[in-house]
Parts: sequence; C-alpha cells; structure tokens
Amino acid sequence: MTRRDFTATLAALSAYNLNAQTGETPGIGFIGLGARSKAHFQAFKELPQAHIVALCDLQSARIEETNAGLPSKAVGYTDYHELLHDRNVGAVVIATPNYLHYQMALDTMRAGKDLLLEKPMGINYEQAKAIRAEAARSGRVLLVGMQRLYGSDGAMIGMVQRGDIGQPKVINASEYRGDWNPRTTMYTDPATGKTGIWRVMKKAVGSSELEFCVHLYAALCKIVDSPLVRLTATGGDFYYPNRETRDASSTIVDFQNNMRLSHNYVMFSPGCPTVIDIFGDKGSLSRVNGKITVYAEDGKPKDVPPMPERPETEAMVEMYKDFFECIRTRRTPLANADLAMAASKIAFGLDMSILQKKTITAADFV
Ligand SMILES: NC(=O)c1ccc[n+]([C@@H]2O[C@H](COP(=O)([O-])OP(=O)(O)OC[C@H]3O[C@@H](n4cnc5c(N)ncnc54)[C@H](O)[C@@H]3O)[C@@H](O)[C@H]2O)c1
Repeated sequence: MTRRDFTATLAALSAYNLNAQTGETPGIGFIGLGARSKAHFQAFKELPQAHIVALCDLQSARIEETNAGLPSKAVGYTDYHELLHDRNVGAVVIATPNYLHYQMALDTMRAGKDLLLEKPMGINYEQAKAIRAEAARSGRVLLVGMQRLYGSDGAMIGMVQRGDIGQPKVINASEYRGDWNPRTTMYTDPATGKTGIWRVMKKAVGSSELEFCVHLYAALCKIVDSPLVRLTATGGDFYYPNRETRDASSTIVDFQNNMRLSHNYVMFSPGCPTVIDIFGDKGSLSRVNGKITVYAEDGKPKDVPPMPERPETEAMVEMYKDFFECIRTRRTPLANADLAMAASKIAFGLDMSILQKKTITAADFV
C-alpha cells in the first residue's frame, strides 16, 4: 500500500466511522458557489440532515454570501485542497465548471470522501473513464448530479419500465433551448489567449451537448439499457458567430439490443417545445414540454395511471436523499457512474463523429 493510499484509507475510515457511530449524515464540503449552487442550497433547506460544514470558492465574497444563508456558519476555503483536508468533511459536492471536475473528483475520492459531482463526469472519455475507475478502486460513493432522473424524466422512465408501451424499440427526441446564462465565470484558453464564458469554450465545457443534453441521454440510456454499437452525427455553429461550441446537432445511435435513438438539439430556439417520442411494440409515449401522452396500438390515447413528475427542487431533494442513503448503506446511487458513462458516451461520440467526419463505434471507446 502506498503512502497516499494509506492516508486515503485512514481518511475514509474516519469519515465512515463518524457516520456509522452517529447514524448521521457526514459533514458536507461544497466546492463552487456559482449559479448552479443556488439550486443545491435551495434543496438543503428541505433536508435537515444536510450539514454544510465547509464552503470553497475562489471568490471569498461568494463564501460569505452563501454562509449568510446557512443555519450555522461553515468554514470557508479558497483552496479546495484545504477543504479536502478538513476532518469534519465526510462528503463533498463539486459544482465548478466542467474542466475542473476531473482533477477535483479524483482528489476528493483519493482523500476518502464520498462525492456528489455535478454533471458531466469529465470533459472527455479518458477523464470520465478515470473518474469511474477511481470510484470503483476507492469504494467511494459517486453520484453524478443528473437530478432529472429523480424528477422530470423519472415519470417517463417509470412508465416505459412499467410496460405502458410494451418493449421500446425506437426513440425520437428533439431538445430546444435558448443561449447560455451570460453571468457565469470566464475561462481563458492558455493556448490561444481567447476568453469567454466557460460554456462556450471547448476546453472548458467539452461540448454543448455534454453540458445540456447529457441529462436526457442519461434518462434514455436508462430506458434503452443496452450498450452503444454505432453513432453518427452532424452539427455546427449555425447561429452564434465565432463560437468554439455547436448550437445545433443531429445524432443517430444504434444500441446492441437493436434499439435506435435519433436526437436533435438546437439552442437558438427558446420557447419551442422539447419533444420526446418513444415507440414500442404495444404503443407509444409522447412527451411534449413535460406533458406525457401514451397511445395504444390503434392510435387512441391510452388511459394509464400517471407517474409523478417532480419539479426541480423536489428532484434535487430526492437526489440528495439517494446520496445520503448510499453513504449510509454503501449501495450504488440511481445517478451512478455507469449510467453517467453511458450518457457521456453519446455526447463524446457525437463530438468525435462531427469533428472526425466518421461513424463512431464501440471500438472507439476502449
Ligand atoms: N444539474 C444541472 O441541471 C446543472 C445546471 C447548471 C449547471 N450545472 C453544472 O454545475 C457546474 C457549475 O455551473 P455554474 O453555472 O454554477 O458555473 P458558474 O461559472 O456560475 O460557477 C462556478 C463557480 O465555481 C467557482 N470556481 C472556479 N474555479 C474554482 C476553483 N478552482 N476552486 C473553487 N471554486 C472555483 C467560480 O468562482 C464560480 O463561483 C457545471 O459543471 C455545470 O455543468 C448543472
């Protein structure tokens, strides 16, 4: 055992024992207090078991602002390594821009802390693979923050899994949105000196689809439940000038169980209803802007019991309940690394397909 492994094991045992002895949720250290953190702190208000003991951001003003809203004051750090050394921190939430997820996730799990990592699980396949491998090696809980699995997408998944349309065969999905929030942090590419909000810089975000569509990919991968066989895609920057990232793409994926996904993405279309149609051998399910209709084989709407579609905060609360339960029982969360990897492969694959102008197969993911 190396010195680093030994230190990590000690840290893991101390965090685990604290939890096992008291039955309480371990202290949470939160890294990255930007726009997304607001949704997490809103959910914490509904979770009395969530004890935020440490906060970290490069901007101290954000630590003070967040601390002001907490029931008891957390310790503030501007260097996340110091937060990882804090013995009161047993679990960590990372909500920094995507390009920081890889190193921060590895450091967190190696420090023996359980981790809720905002999506995505790294900005490329190599990073995602390394994060998943570290979770397996270290035995840490890794939940990838795709809260829609617990909320708005959960009902669609549940209805298909319940058999409402029989065996699903083909999925057509079109996702639409407007431009990114301009009030997020900036990123400067060290190679080119070019600066922009991190979501439009390829090295910082990975791709637009990895940033946005990975939620739906995860839900659809849960429904398909079969490995990717081949993928082909086209896309580019049709509307926003001088961007490194795409604003529209179309992707077709074939899976090993012969299911097929066709996905379209446009991000200069605010207001256009997102449509997800799933066709099975005993009917079809159509979800238009969140409203689900199930059709029977004769084309008539089918009267099936609805499943709850939790709104955002409730979904976040459910996600945290899953995280805390996994910490307590050491089981695997719903939004686990394997599902995050299946979803990420579609985003990585379509990026490779468009940039390399070729069809991507399972052999491209070794
Ligand atoms: N699950 C969802 O629905 C959802 C929605 C939006 C964003 N996100 C994810 O949340 C993450 C953050 O997005 P955002 O919109 O909050 O970005 P943001 O730019 O608004 O905030 C990022 C924060 O991280 C801080 N930061 C940057 N480098 C840091 C470092 N080295 N150490 C500590 N803090 C550092 C910044 O100062 C900033 O406060 C992204 O990964 C994004 O994909 C998820």
